[in-house]
Amino acid sequence: MAAVKVLADVDTGVDDALALIYVAWAHRTGRAQLLGCGTVAGNCTVEQATANTLRVLELAGLEVPVARGACRPLAGALRTAPEVHGEDGLAGAGVGPLYRKPSPEHAVDQILRLSRQHAGELVLVATGPLTNVAMALVLEPELARRLARLVVMGGGVRDLGNVTAAAEFNFYTDPEAAHVVLESGVPLTLVGLDVTHQVYVEETDLARLQQVDTPQARFARHLLRFGMEAYRRLGGPARFYLHDPLAAAVALDARWVSGRWVSLSVETRGERTRGMCVADWRRQPEAAVPHGPGWAWVALQVEGRRFVGHFMEELARWARGAGADGPAELAGGRDTRDERAAAHG
Ligand code: RIB
Ligand code: CA
Repeated sequence: MAAVKVLADVDTGVDDALALIYVAWAHRTGRAQLLGCGTVAGNCTVEQATANTLRVLELAGLEVPVARGACRPLAGALRTAPEVHGEDGLAGAGVGPLYRKPSPEHAVDQILRLSRQHAGELVLVATGPLTNVAMALVLEPELARRLARLVVMGGGVRDLGNVTAAAEFNFYTDPEAAHVVLESGVPLTLVGLDVTHQVYVEETDLARLQQVDTPQARFARHLLRFGMEAYRRLGGPARFYLHDPLAAAVALDARWVSGRWVSLSVETRGERTRGMCVADWRRQPEAAVPHGPGWAWVALQVEGRRFVGHFMEELARWARGAGADGPAELAGGRDTRDERAAAHG
């Protein structure tokens, strides 16, 4: 199977970082060709997301352009998510010297350029607010026909909300951008909470990774344990949802999920429902796909434990394999449990 040509648009945060590691490993093992990354404000500021993305790719031993994108949503105010991802967006590991610089190109220009250079082949995977993607579609509407696929982590049609009762974080942060993307007629695959809430990591899932002692393994364990602790502090069980890694996996192989075409719109005005994904189940999908504006192929089922097992296996392989020539330890790369043990004796 030829390597899938991928451009990632991310708000690197903890699960974006894990998704980037997954794609970087697929790149190094010939299943993907990561052509670049674009960053967008969401989990943290776009400056921090850019620095975090550069750090993760450096640790992954991958040199691809990282282009800074939108610093705020199209219309609303930016509200970052330090309660889940840490103040720096990378579980406290987003500090220390940066050896790589972002590309001078804007993320929107990078989307348009790569979509022209790889017309019909490029898979754009967006795991943050859709601000950059919407801006690119407004600048050049024909982008919708040049992309092979747009895979979005966002929304939800039965499992509606995580940041509010009605809305998922990426769609809540920039509902106007989600509306522009949905109305563009781009061949859209939506990997929303309906499936990402079925794929989560708990302490027992780290066993395979526990056996690896490299800076990469320590960094990955740190991210996962930080995320589990964040969800526990927010009142849930100590588990970390692999929202963005599932979207990345679907971008490389759509067979991870099953679903159907759904007529979709996004609420942009509701006082309690802003950012909500509204599915019109009255409309049955016609035979021809991809549908026009207002339609998305929505992932509805996933074999959660099978995916988590696959993801943790790939992460352990990366941690072993990338360790061979990966750079020095990242600041937060120490194993959280070791730190806890050290702190409490
Ligand atoms: O709702 C989860 C999504 O919002 C993930 O992409 C997470 O990184 C945040 O961006
Ligand atoms: Ca994200």
